Amino acid sequence: MKLFIDTGNLKEIESLVPLGVVDGITTNPSLLARERGDPRDILKLICRLVQGPVSAEVLASDAEGMVREGRDLATIDEHIVIKVPFTREGVKACKALTGDGLRVNVTLVFSPTQALLAAKVGATYVSPFVGRLDDISTSGMGLVEQIVEIYDNYDFATEVLVASVRHPLHVVEAARMGADVCTCPAAIFDAMFKHPLTDIGIERFLKDWEKARPAGV
Ligand code: E4P
Repeated sequence: MKLFIDTGNLKEIESLVPLGVVDGITTNPSLLARERGDPRDILKLICRLVQGPVSAEVLASDAEGMVREGRDLATIDEHIVIKVPFTREGVKACKALTGDGLRVNVTLVFSPTQALLAAKVGATYVSPFVGRLDDISTSGMGLVEQIVEIYDNYDFATEVLVASVRHPLHVVEAARMGADVCTCPAAIFDAMFKHPLTDIGIERFLKDWEKARPAGV
């Protein structure tokens, strides 16, 4: 399973990319609005750092505007993936943009039927928002399970990108279900690295070594 960072923050990206575990980035208007500077410059720098797919979202709500914005976003860097919201207009825009040979991430997906329609118009990625579904007492991972099953039944090429991830267990479940990508905030990556028994183990090994082999022996 590919791991993306869900962020627009360059420092977070700079600290995680050298570890070799990051395959791409997802941004959204809320994330980019938190950062200082021109969003286009930020996206350009992100692409340079990651050298993998970087989702950049359109703001227009009509298909024509989405296509115009999407084509423009694609000129920032070859790694840009155009993110469009799942609406009738978004589906129409996805069809036009993929027809141009551009990659599209259909976002704000909350039902299996939305995912099916996104796949039919050639979306590169579909993004079910698991945390936001959990927030309203609906199983986000249950949705991912249904999408994976539907896509497998018909060999759709669209990749399932698990989004709105809130804890490492979402990542575990996504991987067990065979999702293609999981996009996680930097804090989730930090949590995935940590285990108290690893820290205790290292400490104990070093202590035992010092006890048995006093300095210089
Ligand atoms: C994914 O592409 C979205 O940017 C993101 O995962 C949304 O997460 P949130 O529900 O925590 O805002």
